[in-house]
Amino acid sequence: MDKLLLKNGNYIPKLGQGTWRLGEDSRKRKVEVEALQFGINKGLNLIDTAEMYGEGGAELIVGEAIKDFNRKDLFLVSKVYPHNASRRKIFSSVENSLKRMGTDYLDLYLLHWRGTVPLKETVDCFEEMVKQGIIKQWGVSNFDTEDMEELFSIEKGSNCVINQVLYHLGSRGTEYDLQSWLMKNNTVMMAYCPLAQGGFLREELVNNKSVMEIAKNHNISVYQLLLSFVLNRKNIVTIPKAIKKEHIQDNIASLKIILKEDELERLNREFPAPNFKTWLDVV
Ligand SMILES: NC(=O)c1ccc[n+]([C@@H]2O[C@H](COP(=O)([O-])OP(=O)(O)OC[C@H]3O[C@@H](n4cnc5c(N)ncnc54)[C@H](OP(=O)(O)O)[C@@H]3O)[C@@H](O)[C@H]2O)c1
Repeated sequence: MDKLLLKNGNYIPKLGQGTWRLGEDSRKRKVEVEALQFGINKGLNLIDTAEMYGEGGAELIVGEAIKDFNRKDLFLVSKVYPHNASRRKIFSSVENSLKRMGTDYLDLYLLHWRGTVPLKETVDCFEEMVKQGIIKQWGVSNFDTEDMEELFSIEKGSNCVINQVLYHLGSRGTEYDLQSWLMKNNTVMMAYCPLAQGGFLREELVNNKSVMEIAKNHNISVYQLLLSFVLNRKNIVTIPKAIKKEHIQDNIASLKIILKEDELERLNREFPAPNFKTWLDVV
């Protein structure tokens, strides 16, 4: 699996598996567990989850899926709710996440989005967790450039290794200044919804003539083209969610797709990045 180097010297896989909407329906449990295991067996060792997903249900699915794998080979990411990111609550939140996943450490722990708890309080707790070995590193999610600047102005705030934000061909606001800011500050961006939720977030993406033609020229699906658009960017790792095995296989194959300059230019014409500051896109 291709990897990116984090500022603390650790590596992170470039492609992982998302888990939003997993663990919400017990009838789907077996299929969901098997999908994650199928992905891990094919090399998708990074799994992104959160205490929010299925109110712990997704973490339980992850726990079941990983129990027969070597923990050292996995890269587990979870997220704390902003209302649990205080000193009073965050340590029990992380313990509960660990318990649900049947592990004694997380590779990455993220603040899911900004809330009312002072950033310094959350950063101090994250740093203590790193020292205690409960987490290997920490980051944030849904932070725009100004939020990152504020975070980095706090003592130890610049130890943040990742900002997880929405990014796909049809939502390129982060290209205006956030992506370059992260690159300059040696912080990796983790793109969520790289497939625009299978086209659901912007339907015209998957029906677009240029997208379809470029995909056809590479003999890939339009979804693989969407994923390779994200994977072709520098300093970005991404976590598509896929339950269908053919989707998982297609997503792994997308790592090998290199888009040519003229193809990228064509995509830029169809779905340009804004040349002005926009609100950070979220779902
Ligand atoms: N930090 C945050 O606030 C935040 C917000 C949203 C998401 N996330 C994380 O990011 C992950 C990814 O985002 P997402 O799940 O919202 O959307 P996504 O990954 O863009 O899209 C998932 C959808 O795409 C389909 N799909 C996957 N691979 C495909 C392929 N090769 N061909 C056709 N369809 C394909 C999936 O279908 P099947 O499942 O049927 O295979 C599913 O319906 C989440 O699961 C979650 O871990 C984080």
